[in-house]
Amino acid sequence: MARILIADDHTALRRGIAERLSDRGYGVQEASNGSEVIERLHASAFDAVLADLRLGGADGLDVLRTAAALQPSAVVVLMTAFGSVDTAVEAMRSGAADFLTKPFGLDELELRLANALDVRRARHEIQYLRHTQPDIYSVDRIIGASGALARTMAIVRKVAGSQATVLIQGETGTGKELVAGAIHHNSSRAARSFVKVNCAALQENLLESELFGHERGAFTGADRQRIGRFEQADGGSLFLDEVADMSLSTQAKILRVLQEHELERLGGTRTIRVDVRLIAATNRSLADMVAAGEFREDLYYRLNVVSIDVPPLRERKEDIPLLVESFVRRYSGEIGKPLDGVRADALKLLTRYHWPGNIRELENTIERAVLLADGRLVTSDDLVIGTSDSATDGQGHPAAVRIPPAGVPLEEIERQAVTEALRMCNWVQKDAAELLSISPRVINYKIKILGIRLPRRHRSLPLSAAS
Ligand SMILES: Nc1ncnc2c1ncn2[C@@H]1O[C@H](COP(=O)(O)OP(=O)(O)OP(=O)(O)O)[C@@H](O)[C@H]1O
Ligand SMILES: [Mg+2]
Repeated sequence: MARILIADDHTALRRGIAERLSDRGYGVQEASNGSEVIERLHASAFDAVLADLRLGGADGLDVLRTAAALQPSAVVVLMTAFGSVDTAVEAMRSGAADFLTKPFGLDELELRLANALDVRRARHEIQYLRHTQPDIYSVDRIIGASGALARTMAIVRKVAGSQATVLIQGETGTGKELVAGAIHHNSSRAARSFVKVNCAALQENLLESELFGHERGAFTGADRQRIGRFEQADGGSLFLDEVADMSLSTQAKILRVLQEHELERLGGTRTIRVDVRLIAATNRSLADMVAAGEFREDLYYRLNVVSIDVPPLRERKEDIPLLVESFVRRYSGEIGKPLDGVRADALKLLTRYHWPGNIRELENTIERAVLLADGRLVTSDDLVIGTSDSATDGQGHPAAVRIPPAGVPLEEIERQAVTEALRMCNWVQKDAAELLSISPRVINYKIKILGIRLPRRHRSLPLSAAS
């Protein structure tokens, strides 16, 4: 239960309050003058200080200042018989949580004290969350040892300290959100909010009200005022996820905030100034969208002050063993199943696959494998690769053989099988051959006679000049 210091030179009143609060289970101490208050504050920790504004010579405001200095986390509630508005205003301004005018009933006192303690708890919770967030998003949480990731992270560290708008691009599941968080939490804005908005999740009107807020009555159903995400992020960073997915008119409004640092709530006329750093992410090519007239060119340049490309997992396969190890540790810890890691055969499969759903797909695969594993190691039997939703590459190539009623030449099935195997192995012929239980020479021959076209950069690279 909360510990309360009651400071009042009026003995009967102080006693009355003390008795009532101890009855309610509070830990109570008393002080009858300024020097006793200081003594008690030095000796023990309190959650709240209840102080008379006129305290046997000492000024209640001095008590307030002393308490703030010695125990900043305690809330101070002032009591006074001289309910002058000026003093009350000054008290609140100096950081008092509340102000009671004598005479007051003990019920009222109890209620106000409980409220002040609630506010204090909420404040602590926020501080705690702010404190733990950097952990969630620290650069250390971004796992990987590849040169590709290291290059990305070098840019992250460099831009974090600046105020520049950042555009993060990369395929789905590559860790764009993680990168955005790392930028915020390593910036000078780290102590302020990191606010996220997923632009793809809401249709135009809702998205605008989410971003800019609205006044009461702005539209049907707007029965109270709402503070938008931009305002919430004031002093901090706003993460606009899936930034490609918003209408041209919303884009225009965002451009204005970026240029003028001001906005109006929907249905409002008051101009609100905001100081927000924008971090945007998308898995689409904004440049292509600009060319197609689907994204405003001016906004594109405003967002793209610094651009960070998060490479797909298949281009940084060196990261796979580290990621696998960390996911095995995380999920075996979560479900309380002691696992030592993955067996070599499983790791080989995991490294060979092309991971269209990137790290999210890998993470899901490991989570499932940890559940399935019988022994102390994940084996290839525990792996279900390439069937999760995140694994579709958007081109809809089914791996299973399905013969249409009208029939299909065997050669066509062979072509599809070889192509699919190659795709799964990121076009590494040796791996695809293994998948189909044929030799590298045979697959090479099949590619030629079936006329399978390889993506440009996978066409017979000279051995010495491999990428
Ligand atoms: N380098 C990494 N180390 C550890 N975990 C990672 C890494 N990159 C991504 N993850 C994890 O993979 C999952 C997907 O990451 P994230 O949500 O940041 O991807 P995204 O690029 O924003 O995806 P989408 O485009 O689908 O929104 C998360 O659970 C994240 O914690
Ligand atoms: Mg994301």
